Amino acid sequence: MAAAAVLNRRLICSSEELTEKGPGVRFSVERHGVDEPAFVVRFHGQAHAYLNRCAHVPVQLDWQEGEFFDHSGIYLICATHGALYDPASGHCLGGRCNGKGLVALQVSENEGQVFLLEEGK
Ligand code: FES
Repeated sequence: MAAAAVLNRRLICSSEELTEKGPGVRFSVERHGVDEPAFVVRFHGQAHAYLNRCAHVPVQLDWQEGEFFDHSGIYLICATHGALYDPASGHCLGGRCNGKGLVALQVSENEGQVFLLEEGK
């Protein structure tokens, strides 16, 4: 039987910093030895985190720092060419990313704080 992966928790922000469909909080994660930008937003009460990288061209989604939602508040939008993503899953819902989605990151929320869950090394 394979051993369960150990998850490390890293604090991203306080829960109150994430308002429903409001500005996201940016942070960084290490991927293959390189720091990559990431963000977390609140949608339908839940915190959702993704790498801050459009699936079309690897640019960051937010043009104005922390602005990830479109005007409707229903989608995450890439400010560069307008690709739309489902905030709950990161799936592409239209635009130039051709069905590719955002890279989701695991988060948890406990006692007023939002944590990134990363596999232990
Ligand atoms: S870079 Fe995001 S839609 Fe083109």
